[in-house]
Amino acid sequence: MKTLFINACVREGSRTKQLAEYYLKKNGEPYEELDLEKDRALPLDREGLLKRGELLEAGKTDDPLFRNANQFREAEEIVIAAPYWDLSIPALLKDYIETIDIVGLTFHYIADDVPQTLSKVHKLVFITTAGGTMINDEYGYGYLKAVFENFFEVKDFAYFKAEKLDLYGAEPEKILEETRRQIDAYFAE
Ligand SMILES: Cc1cc2nc3c(=O)[nH]c(=O)nc-3n(C[C@H](O)[C@H](O)[C@H](O)COP(=O)(O)O)c2cc1C
Repeated sequence: MKTLFINACVREGSRTKQLAEYYLKKNGEPYEELDLEKDRALPLDREGLLKRGELLEAGKTDDPLFRNANQFREAEEIVIAAPYWDLSIPALLKDYIETIDIVGLTFHYIADDVPQTLSKVHKLVFITTAGGTMINDEYGYGYLKAVFENFFEVKDFAYFKAEKLDLYGAEPEKILEETRRQIDAYFAE
């Protein structure tokens, strides 16, 4: 299986990244990494949106502007690691999502409101950690799951999280170990 690791962990020694690396090791598949700290996707602004439209119109889908989308559509498994920031995902991950949701390249519409995938992606794994308790899963995992279900027809999902890492008196290593055991159990199934 062709795995693409989307790394949205910017902190040195990121615990979310450590969990993702644990998953990837257990997974045993070779993988390609896109480090969003080094390879930032620019927010889609007026100029970017116009350029994207013109390139698509001209059929120039091999333009570097579509590098993320072309890389994404060839992957089969997407592993995303992102910390819980401001009750959601870091903006740099949202910016990335805007570079892969492209009508005519990664999906298209077969009827008015019926998207069909143009990608090979069939699995999403999302890994996150939070300093406190996450108020819900909807603003991070829930959002990503909706994107992958709706545009890319993905049905295979896995979600791993470690919470309360920064609370007073917390023992983060114990909490992370518990999440590693959940990853072990997932592979043992
Ligand atoms: C910019 C920023 C925003 C954060 N927002 C939240 C938050 O809303 N709720 C929470 O519980 N923790 C929050 N945290 C704490 C992180 O979720 C926590 O430290 C996490 O484990 C960081 O992951 P990392 O070790 O992979 O960087 C925030 C941390 C940062 C740096």
